[in-house]
Amino acid sequence: MLAPASGGFCFFMKNIRNFCIIAHIDHGKSTLADRFLEITGTVKKEKMREQILDQMDLERERGITIKMQPCAMNYSVAGRDYELNLIDTPGHMDFSYEVERSLSAVESVVLLVDAVSGVQAQTLANLRLARAQGLTIIPVINKIDICPSKEQLEKVKQEIAAVLGKDCDAILCISAKTGENVEKALEAIIKQAPSPSFEGGGLKALVFDSVYDNFQGVIAYVRMFEGEVKKGDQIYFVNQKASAEAREVGVFRPGRSPAPKLLAGQIGYIATGIKNVSDVKIGDTIAANGQPMSESLPGYREPKPLVFANIFPGQDQNFEILKSNFDKLQLNDTALTAKSMSNAYLGRGLRIGFLGMLHMEIFMERLKREYGTQVVLTSPSVVFKAKLKNQKEPITVHSAAELPDQGEVEYIEEPWVKLNVISPTKYSSKIHELVEQKRGKFIASQILDKDTLLLEFQAPLCEIIEEFLDKVKSVSKGFASFSYEFDEYKKSEMVKLKFLISHELKPCFSKIVHKDKAIIEARQFVKRLKDVLPSKNFTQSLQAQVNGKIIAREDIRAMRKDVTAPLYGGDITRKKKLLVKQRKGKKLLQKHGRTPIPEQVYLKLLRK
Ligand code: GTP
Repeated sequence: MLAPASGGFCFFMKNIRNFCIIAHIDHGKSTLADRFLEITGTVKKEKMREQILDQMDLERERGITIKMQPCAMNYSVAGRDYELNLIDTPGHMDFSYEVERSLSAVESVVLLVDAVSGVQAQTLANLRLARAQGLTIIPVINKIDICPSKEQLEKVKQEIAAVLGKDCDAILCISAKTGENVEKALEAIIKQAPSPSFEGGGLKALVFDSVYDNFQGVIAYVRMFEGEVKKGDQIYFVNQKASAEAREVGVFRPGRSPAPKLLAGQIGYIATGIKNVSDVKIGDTIAANGQPMSESLPGYREPKPLVFANIFPGQDQNFEILKSNFDKLQLNDTALTAKSMSNAYLGRGLRIGFLGMLHMEIFMERLKREYGTQVVLTSPSVVFKAKLKNQKEPITVHSAAELPDQGEVEYIEEPWVKLNVISPTKYSSKIHELVEQKRGKFIASQILDKDTLLLEFQAPLCEIIEEFLDKVKSVSKGFASFSYEFDEYKKSEMVKLKFLISHELKPCFSKIVHKDKAIIEARQFVKRLKDVLPSKNFTQSLQAQVNGKIIAREDIRAMRKDVTAPLYGGDITRKKKLLVKQRKGKKLLQKHGRTPIPEQVYLKLLRK
């Protein structure tokens, strides 16, 4: 760490640069961070490995960044020492809350764009977030070592100029892989990024992330805005009204590295010893205990989950263990929301809100790997609103079970998103067709360069959370990309699709679907029921119903049982008597027979 003694505190602050690297997925953020760490000597050569800031095994296996990762570096230019605090951020839109939180800890961003694929949907989405925070934007083109031509580089420059709204002739072009021009990028950051400003007050630090450590309790990742903090100081979480002792303070290099103190302008961590995870909330302000606090920092907006699914304890586990492990994981993944609920088959569980399907997948994997928790997950769904005839305000509907019958419902609303697709012009008509199939509407288009378009649509969220990515990639031969964000609730012709087994309603399988998709969904599900349910000694009817009308049906034929087998020879009339009795019994069972669904079958049906 730089010593502020060399010319005083203001001088120290002037030598700090806090910045994030933001980009579309796979444009090379973590690789660029590797080069920065090498050039500045932050990580010794023998300890260096690819994408070193992707510290989770899961990130390395999948080759994607899931968590933001801060790292402090020291670098000298023209005899002057600088402290460069970098935060590497994820590129996938499901982790944009990580980007948003990182941005409030810095003054500038490196906007990295792949020279081959150019500006992509998440480049724009992240740029928008950086602009909303008023940050200095330093555009950089990466992967010039594999850029096919000068024309292509020009094309990408034009795209960046179009989205930044300014001339980009002098834009820096680098290769994070070979290291070409990466030192120039460091110098550009020092030159263009503003140093942090401060007013000279007492301790004021923003908690922008946190992690649970079994020995040190909650470790708060902080951006220091005012004052200082050192080991042994009594600190206070302003919004949560919780006190703690700073058991250790330090910076990231990139692992936690203890330091004597943290000063205004720096990014680091405070080990709090707190074991009750609810005492620490991301976005809270840390002050000195007993110090009058003029104003807390603005913090963060609450994350807006788009997809909901229920989880239940798996075998050999109980709800309390699940809840405690969830709370610890949530400390490190604050985009998750949860509410307790229960299910007739699976008992107590949590209804979890996710930012998207990948977020859900990663959450499940982390719960399993980091806490050994196996859970049962129900199929994900969006949240509807229903205006009932006897109520003024619409009710929130998380599952079909919460939706009253058609007769009581005046109208249903579903969530719509703003959908941005960046596509080569030659595939734009295919993209239009695809969005139309998904009930979406075209809003506007913008030319990014002579053969790339930015297409803006509005579309129902439930249509794009699954399969849309594969379809966009398939119609554009992999060249188009998209991002979306919640827009508004709109009235929609949704219906409640119910399922009956042997004429008995099974509410656990009910779904809310668009009326035009009801028949397809109904047919698919009764077929799955037929495949999964065990046969009985009577015929079971599997029916799908909308507003009292049967719209799909399958039957599971009765198991054959030879009731005459125990008879050896003898009179034919005895055989006939037994068969008539069996027939009668089957008819009765078919009419009154119950078909409870075994838990294993229920679980099989939940799996897609
Ligand atoms: P996410 O965090 O998952 O969004 O990815 P990222 O933006 O951090 O990209 P990452 O650094 O993981 O790089 C993605 C791929 O691009 C890796 O295979 C890198 O080796 C490769 N890559 C990154 N920079 C360069 C470059 O300058 N040239 C070449 N040829 N490949 C690069």
